[in-house]
This record gives sequence, C-alpha cells and structure tokens, in this order.
Amino acid sequence: MLSLTRRILKKFHPEGIPFPGTFFYNFVSKSKIFQHHYDLISQDVLNHVTSGKVLDIGTGPGWLLLSLHKQNPHFELVGADISASMVERAKANIQQADLSGQIHVEIADAKSMPFADDSFDAVISTGSVHHWKDPLTSINEIYRILKPGGYAFLYDIVSDIPKAVLKQMAKDFGRLRMFLLWLHAFEEPFYSLDNYRLLAGQTRFKEGTTRFVGVMCCLSLRKSLPNVKLSGSWEDRKFEV
Ligand SMILES: C[S@@+](CC[C@H](N)C(=O)[O-])C[C@H]1O[C@@H](n2cnc3c(N)ncnc32)[C@H](O)[C@@H]1O
Repeated sequence: MLSLTRRILKKFHPEGIPFPGTFFYNFVSKSKIFQHHYDLISQDVLNHVTSGKVLDIGTGPGWLLLSLHKQNPHFELVGADISASMVERAKANIQQADLSGQIHVEIADAKSMPFADDSFDAVISTGSVHHWKDPLTSINEIYRILKPGGYAFLYDIVSDIPKAVLKQMAKDFGRLRMFLLWLHAFEEPFYSLDNYRLLAGQTRFKEGTTRFVGVMCCLSLRKSLPNVKLSGSWEDRKFEV
C-alpha cells in the first residue's frame, strides 16, 4: 500500500509524539495557518453533524476541540491521544480556555479505544492517521464505537496534494509555508491520495470518499444503519442524517 520509502519512514516514525516534540508542536500549531485549518475543519464537521457526542482521535494540543466548542458549545466533546505528554498539553490548553468541565481528554490508542460500542455520533481526526501503525484495526475501532448512521471524518495531509489546492493555499498563506509543507512530505509517511481512499475498502465501513478541506484531505466514512437498504450511490447518501 505505501511505497518502500514510506514504509521505511513509517517503521521509524514515532506513533505518539513524545516530549519535547509536544512542546514544539503546541507552539507551531498556535500559528495562523494551523488555527485557520482547525476553524475550517470544525465548520466542515458542523456542516454534517450538529449535535451529540464527538470524539477527536490523536487530538494533540486539543485545538480542534476548542474550535468546535467555540462554534457549537452544545457538543459533548472527547479527545484521545496515545501520547501522555500531548494529553497534558491538551488539558492545559483546555484549562486555559476555562473549559475543563466541558471537554474531556484522555490517553488512548486508536487501535483499542476505551469506549463502548455505538457510543459516538461522530469521530474525527486531523493529521494523525499517517502516524497510526495499524490503521485498519484503528478504523475498525472507529466503526465499533460509532452509533449506527454516525460519521467519521479523518483529515490528513497526503503526499500528492493536487496542484490546484496547493496554488490556492499559496495564495492564502504564501509560497514559503507551502514550500515547508512540501519538504515536510518527504520526512512524514503520508499516504498518497489513492491509498488514503483505499483504506476504507479494507475496513468494516467498506467504502469512503475523499475531498479537500483547505490543505487536508478528508476521508469520509459512515457506519451503516441496521436493516436499512440505502439507495443511490454513496456520494448521494453520504451526508444524509
Ligand atoms: C501531527 S499530530 C496532530 C495533532 C492534532 N490532531 C492536530 O491536528 O493538531 C498527531 C497526533 O496523533 C497522535 N497519535 C499518533 N498515533 C496515535 C494512535 N495510535 N492513537 C491515538 N493518537 C495517536 C500523536 O501523539 C499526535 O498527538
């Protein structure tokens, strides 16, 4: 599935981000381009899910949870991350926003989530899937913990971002940032767009679609409803609630 170079990169790439990487990532992700993306993504989530319990896997410093809360304080928000140091970061950021009582974050590995079956209305993730050592087991875990009819939106960078997307981002954020992103793609085991989409077919979701939200590629998945025969293509029905 991944090219040989990316398979080697993945072997040595740490799954969870340890300290002091957490300190550095927290600092970088406060930047304008990151915060713009958290807002873009939370708006995208809100286009499809407007209430209920939402889990962010690989939540890192927790900025996406804070952005989602800002846009809709009625969500019940939970964050999970395999890195204890990241969870500490997220808790500190959430506390600083005075939201400790409202947003819960805990240490958890995507491939074995400490949550009951059918317990979330939506599961989201940004920039984390390419870190997962066992992505298929992890995506099957997402299927297990989603309520029937629930959505998963997995946003990640891909190694072959279309030129048109890069051009638009360069317009918004400058060529230097886009050049840094392009360089970054050589040292991170990102999936190609095709391989990212193909992940869905090997899991209990059976199918999924991809589209771009800013510079992030979103793999959209939906847990089927029991005893409901859906008509039309998945493209037509994917955002029905
Ligand atoms: C590049 S950071 C992205 C953080 C955050 N989602 C964001 O967009 O700023 C990737 C995060 O995924 C976490 N992670 C990696 N593998 C994981 C796994 N198997 N289960 C849960 N979290 C994981 C890392 O510890 C890290 O915090």
